Amino acid sequence: MKTIKGMKFETLISENDIATRVKELVKEIAEDSDGKEIFVIGILKGSFIFLSDLLRLFNVHNIHPSLDFITVESYGSGKTSSGKLKMLRDITTDIENKWVLIVDDILDTGRTLAFAKEYFLKKKPASIKTCVFLDKPERRVNEFKADYVGFEVPDKFVVGYGMDYDNLFRELPYVGVLSDEEDT
Ligand code: IMP
Ligand code: MG
Repeated sequence: MKTIKGMKFETLISENDIATRVKELVKEIAEDSDGKEIFVIGILKGSFIFLSDLLRLFNVHNIHPSLDFITVESYGSGKTSSGKLKMLRDITTDIENKWVLIVDDILDTGRTLAFAKEYFLKKKPASIKTCVFLDKPERRVNEFKADYVGFEVPDKFVVGYGMDYDNLFRELPYVGVLSDEEDT
C-alpha cells in the first residue's frame, strides 16, 4: 500500500506487464491494418501515455500513422460521471476513406467511446476500430465492445499510466487502485 498526496492505493498492473501487453496489442493492430493508411484519434486527456507507447511501437512495424486528438467531456471532477457528453475539441483533418483507430485509456460505462465512434462514422472513414488500455465490463450501460483491449479490470477506480483522480496521478508508470480506506 502506497500513500501519495494523502490517498492510499495499491498496484494493480506493473510497468513490466504494461510494456508486454502493449507490444502484443500493437502487433494485433499492425496485422489487422494490413498496410492501410492509419489515422489515430486519441481521447484526451487520459489516453496520452498509452497512446505515446502505442505510437512508438508502431514504428517497429513500419507503420506511420497520422494523429489527432479530441476532448470529450464525460466526467466532472471526482469519481462520478454526469452521463452527459460534449465534443470539446474536434479533429481538424478529413478522415474520409481512412482506417481510423480511436484510442482511450479506459472503457467504463461505454458512453464516451460509443459517442465518439458514432460521431466519426458520419465522416465516412473506411473503417473505425477502437482501442482501450483498460476495460471495466461490469460498468457498461450499453452494448459497446472495443476491438482491442489491453486488460480487463474489476469495478474499481484506477489511476496511473495517464488515468487520473481529480487530475492527479496520471504520471505513475503503473496502474494503481485507489483504496476506500480513510487515511489515518
Ligand atoms: P465512459 O464514458 O464511462 O466509458 O468513461 C470513460 C472515461 O472515464 C475514461 O476515458 C476515463 O477518463 C474516465 N474513467 C472511467 N473510469 C475511470 C477510472 O477508474 N479511473 C480514471 N478515469 C476513469
Ligand atoms: Mg478519458
